[in-house]
Amino acid sequence: MSQTKQIQWFPGHMFKSLREIREKIKLMDIVMILLDSRLPYASMNPEIMKITQHKPVILLFNKMDLADGEILALSEKKYQEMGYYTLKIDAQSGKNVDKIHQLARDVLKDKIQKEESKGLKIRPFRTMILGIPNVGKSTLINQLSKSSATKTGNTPGVTKAQQWIKLGDTFEMLDTPGVLWPKFTDPKVGYHLAITGAIKDRILPEDDVCHYALDFLKTYYPKKLYQRYQITEAMDYVSMLDQIGKLRGALLKGAEVDYDRVYQIILTDIRGKQLGGLSFDRPETL
Ligand code: G4P
Repeated sequence: MSQTKQIQWFPGHMFKSLREIREKIKLMDIVMILLDSRLPYASMNPEIMKITQHKPVILLFNKMDLADGEILALSEKKYQEMGYYTLKIDAQSGKNVDKIHQLARDVLKDKIQKEESKGLKIRPFRTMILGIPNVGKSTLINQLSKSSATKTGNTPGVTKAQQWIKLGDTFEMLDTPGVLWPKFTDPKVGYHLAITGAIKDRILPEDDVCHYALDFLKTYYPKKLYQRYQITEAMDYVSMLDQIGKLRGALLKGAEVDYDRVYQIILTDIRGKQLGGLSFDRPETL
């Protein structure tokens, strides 16, 4: 692996978000934490694990379409062993989003039975959707609110109590900024967040991020790397950049390689589907 630098980064307003979540958690029937399937550990905030420990939690592994299925299955199992309910979803296409409803019912079945035995009508489950920036919260909320949109004509339908947003017939979501900034002291976590675009490119130098990314691909996904860019095992970092620059025509005047463009090419490929499913966090790191 390439050199990893110590990173100090944790925005101050994270403390405000955490305080708000801590205050509102009591109102929840169930909490949904959205994780990035490619980085199920880096996208989990340990503080949130603590705050939510007495509530039923569903971990939604979003962007399943971008992850390495085998590694994702192992990570999911690890979280299940820790007592979490889990579901893999693709909020963009809507895959498995319809299963969230049934899973929540299963998780809350005792509570539902109790209320039904008292003759009470089942009200929508109160929930909070938490996740780091860019993990897909808005996309998921749009998907979940679709079913109510057809009935009420609202997207999403706003209930009378201002703060609660109706998501379909099943959930009422508290309208708080459920944004969690990732906290990391392990530089690897920072690189994984940067590679997938969860933290802005300017927080870590692109050159470092690409260096880490190419080393990572060489270690875990060598075939994909070699095939995509016609790279050979013997090439070092700079030779790989030069090769990618030449192959993709990222050149300055005089045929010099335009490294800034090469960094963008690599990151765009990794963040899209061009290299197939990739997982950066490995289960052994949990
Ligand atoms: P946020 O509210 O948590 O910040 O995230 P948001 O929903 O804005 O999603 C961030 C990006 O991730 C969006 O892409 C969105 O389309 C994409 N996304 C969300 N869920 C999935 C998923 O399951 N699979 C894939 N492949 N992508 C997903 P964008 O490039 O910012 O916008 P656009 O592509 O929608 O134009």
